[in-house]
Amino acid sequence: MRYSRIAATGSYVPERVLTNFDLEKMIDTSDEWILTRTGISERRLSRDDEDTSDLAERASREAMEAMGIAPEDLDLIMVATITPTMPLPSTACFLQDKLQARRAAAFDIAAACSGFIYGLSIADSFIRTGTYHTILLVGSEALSKIVDWTDRNTCVLFGDGAGAVIIAPTEGESRIISTHLYSNGSYWDLLMQPGGGSRYPISPEIIEKNLHKIKMMSGNEVFKIATRAMEDAAISALKHNGLEPSDVDLLIAHQANHRIIRAVAQRLRLPEKNVFSNIAKCGNTSAASIPIALDEAVRSGRVKEGDLLLLAAFGAGLTWGSAVIRW
Ligand code: ACO
Repeated sequence: MRYSRIAATGSYVPERVLTNFDLEKMIDTSDEWILTRTGISERRLSRDDEDTSDLAERASREAMEAMGIAPEDLDLIMVATITPTMPLPSTACFLQDKLQARRAAAFDIAAACSGFIYGLSIADSFIRTGTYHTILLVGSEALSKIVDWTDRNTCVLFGDGAGAVIIAPTEGESRIISTHLYSNGSYWDLLMQPGGGSRYPISPEIIEKNLHKIKMMSGNEVFKIATRAMEDAAISALKHNGLEPSDVDLLIAHQANHRIIRAVAQRLRLPEKNVFSNIAKCGNTSAASIPIALDEAVRSGRVKEGDLLLLAAFGAGLTWGSAVIRW
């Protein structure tokens, strides 16, 4: 049987750090409020001359180096992002050009914070069916460029960064075991960037109303739905594979809020040592959050060969999903 595996990882976060104390000087907030409500202490911000494809390139080159392959070896490039370099063409095409990965097809995935899990599922299918052999999947975000820095409900939450994986065929035990994807578009208005699309094309009026920036209608509502959705996705994934929560060596959940991650871990009765978190340093980097966390976990030795990983994410749409991986 032909399966797929994550053969290498890489990540990149920009140098510039914005702490909660910096935010105290910009808006009516406090380090104490942000830390207790979200678990975030600081986040990274891209430079003015750095866009999503630049972040993606750094993470991709690290992953390719870890695997010892060249850009010409790539068959497909997918970039999961809600902050594309431009609305047109895709960020994946910018990345293909930057890497000079001439053989690769390239496209973007728009599933917000669940984009990496969606990409993993697509890559797994392409590899299992033999369509592609070597796939670069990147979650990359420059959220600081679409955040409304006067809106304390959202600007404290987000950060910039990119995480990349290379997915390749295998016949061995170390493989992607399953992926599950879900969405409910009736919640589209909970979290959105209304301006800049075909409903509200960019105009002076749209910009004046700040509609080209991220809007979150009810953080608390998102919190409740997200917690339940990630719990259900994680439990269904384990059940589908005849696994118990006690089989999970490491849960890597989308890093949106440490209380959401803790709630999922508690429902699965996972001890803290089996739950990965880097939200304190990175904030919510949307589609980049799981691959950045995965790379950090791999490089720091938190993930070892044979470990069972459970990934779970939720995001705007709403979208959510899970993946089970034997490392
Ligand atoms: N500093 C100080 N006070 C604040 C801030 C802030 N930065 N932001 C909001 N508040 C205030 C609110 O105005 C509210 O005040 P009020 O009661 O006077 O109206 C109060 O704090 C409490 O607000 P709640 O919404 O009840 O706070 P909650 O405990 O739910 O925490 C939070 C808010 C952190 C946003 C939480 O709901 C959350 O994390 N939700 C999930 C959001 C999320 O993850 N969104 C991204 C989805 S992923 C994607 O696709 C991009």
